[in-house]
Amino acid sequence: MASTGTHDTPGRFPAGARAFPHRDLTGIGHLERHEILFLLAEAEQWVELNRQPSKHCDELAGLTIINAFFENSTRTLLSFEIAGKRLGADVVNMHAAQSSVKKGETLIDTAITLNAMRADAIVIRHGSSGAVDLIASKVDCPVLNAGDGQHEHPTQALLDALALRHALEDRGEGSEDFTGLTVTICGDILHSRVARSNVLCLQALGASVRLCAPPALMPAGVEAIGAQPFHDFDAALDGADVAMMLRLQSERMSGQFIPSAREYHHLYGLTRERLERCAPDALVMHPGPMNRGVEIDSEVADMLDRSIITRQVEMGVAIRMACLDVLTRKARGVPGWNDGQWV
Ligand code: CP
Repeated sequence: MASTGTHDTPGRFPAGARAFPHRDLTGIGHLERHEILFLLAEAEQWVELNRQPSKHCDELAGLTIINAFFENSTRTLLSFEIAGKRLGADVVNMHAAQSSVKKGETLIDTAITLNAMRADAIVIRHGSSGAVDLIASKVDCPVLNAGDGQHEHPTQALLDALALRHALEDRGEGSEDFTGLTVTICGDILHSRVARSNVLCLQALGASVRLCAPPALMPAGVEAIGAQPFHDFDAALDGADVAMMLRLQSERMSGQFIPSAREYHHLYGLTRERLERCAPDALVMHPGPMNRGVEIDSEVADMLDRSIITRQVEMGVAIRMACLDVLTRKARGVPGWNDGQWV
């Protein structure tokens, strides 16, 4: 499938490399609204391809992509691997647990090593906020953030936006952005890179975002980024169009942040009854992995007409294909891209 994309559409996006003038994708916070919309538009061709019996193309043939994951992952690692392979690239996965990181090698030395192998793109997941930006400053190829500490998870926010857009389109409510939509994000906001990237992405696309968490799991100053904080989940859900649930990130907690999982579910778990507080037909989202019976009940997670959780996973492959394609265009000499300046 030819990747002419939509960047030449007159009046919609700047032409060529100016439509996405970044070497790396380390955070939604670096992106303009039109750059987010551009990546979403680019992903549509890959949604189509991924629904065909034959899902292969040669856009990235000959390129080497390294997925370096210093934290566990199912969805992000597999979808980046599938994305690279469907685009025809050679994809190599580095799991930190089986790497020389375990022998004391530093992050910077690991980055320099991957760079010396002449990777054409490096995808990084790391437990420290800012680690991906640090690696990006040490290597010569595009770097994609697959989640860094409590900072950002940009491809998660992009895939969430694409899944939401498709779900609204299926209902005949589709539009380019989310103006007029209210999204409630509830869970462990304090430790969540997904929440941060989603607040930035959803607001850039016109949505109003409510953040709900117990006081101990709500960071200070969320109003400064335009989000409305709640501690009362019922109030946060009142009339919302979307309920996005997040898990408790116990791997980032030192000490006790909640009395018990049972009490947390009582106060902050999304049940069928609670969902009725939202707007009629409100959609349910969750980035995964889910802890059923804690932040979300199974009967809600599995509601065919309301839950778009599996659609989020589907869109993850398309978004990651779009990001790998766009970020490697300059190196591949795609016409109109090789003259662009990175910012
Ligand atoms: N949503 C998400 O990042 O899931 P994984 O941790 O399985 O990649």
